[in-house]
Amino acid sequence: MNNLITAKAHTNIALIKYWGKKNDELIIPQNSSLSLTLDAFYTQTSVIFDESLSNDQLLINSQNANQTELSKVSNFLNIIRKMAHIDTSAKVISTNHVPTAAGLASSASAFAALAGAASKAAGLDLNKRDLSRLARRGSGSACRSIYGGFVEWQGGHNDEDSFAKPIYDEEIDINVIALATNKSQKKISSRTGMKISVDTSPYYPTWIKVANNDLVELKNAIYKKDFTKLGTISELNAMRMHALTLSANPDFLYFNGDTLNIMNEVKSLRSNGIECYYTIDAGPNVKVICKSKDSDYLVKYFNNILGNENVILAKPGNGIEFIE
Ligand code: PMV
Repeated sequence: MNNLITAKAHTNIALIKYWGKKNDELIIPQNSSLSLTLDAFYTQTSVIFDESLSNDQLLINSQNANQTELSKVSNFLNIIRKMAHIDTSAKVISTNHVPTAAGLASSASAFAALAGAASKAAGLDLNKRDLSRLARRGSGSACRSIYGGFVEWQGGHNDEDSFAKPIYDEEIDINVIALATNKSQKKISSRTGMKISVDTSPYYPTWIKVANNDLVELKNAIYKKDFTKLGTISELNAMRMHALTLSANPDFLYFNGDTLNIMNEVKSLRSNGIECYYTIDAGPNVKVICKSKDSDYLVKYFNNILGNENVILAKPGNGIEFIE
């Protein structure tokens, strides 16, 4: 205790999406998911529990956090305080290293780094599995950012058996180009979007079956180093997730006009022999999956459409690290 601990975690992009919870408080997902950790975006967070503080303090990118952000972090710290049998307040200093102004920061890297730094600062020595379970309580996708490369979040049924695990030793040539089409805060959070989808989309039960099947297929593609299959399933799975938003009541859509343009561009690039695929999370930004041999060409291509500052090339990234 009374140690300042710093951890760094990268964000991840889901190729098989997590969309829907079966337990809202514990964040147990309806389906398992699979992601790739990316090197280009990360969060670095330092935490100290300090007896002289009367409340938790949170600085994000050198600014005092707003009340909503602070209470989310305080609730998460409460889980750690309970585990460590302490009631001390903490100071949390978090910096998002995202090459553009906004829009690509992620709760996954934020809660993975916070889980690592805060648990260690509280005197806990958690193994990776328990760190993943803990990060999950902050934001589901954060459980996958504990590991590098391809990572599967085994959905499970309860707090004990819902955690991520790495898919080791499977090197496949893959790059991801992040395209920011809108940098403003998203309007419908993933939390809300998932809930409306689970509660109202008539297709929701089918999603669970299809997503679990997509996951098996994607793992096979990774094992066989079959890039075409990997890209095809990832793109399909993303569209299957977004179909839940269109079929919800009230219906909603994360795409904007640029999102649709990029989707069409990717399809036309593909029909012209540049093999690339898209995937989209709970917002209008697009991630383009490609092979490293095509990434320079594609970065230039999208620079012409969106401007250099909105195009970021990422490669597979590492799992959580502690900084001395
Ligand atoms: O972990 P959350 O609550 O930010 O939800 C993530 C939802 C998606 O990004 C759309 C899918 C995923 O698996 O990351």
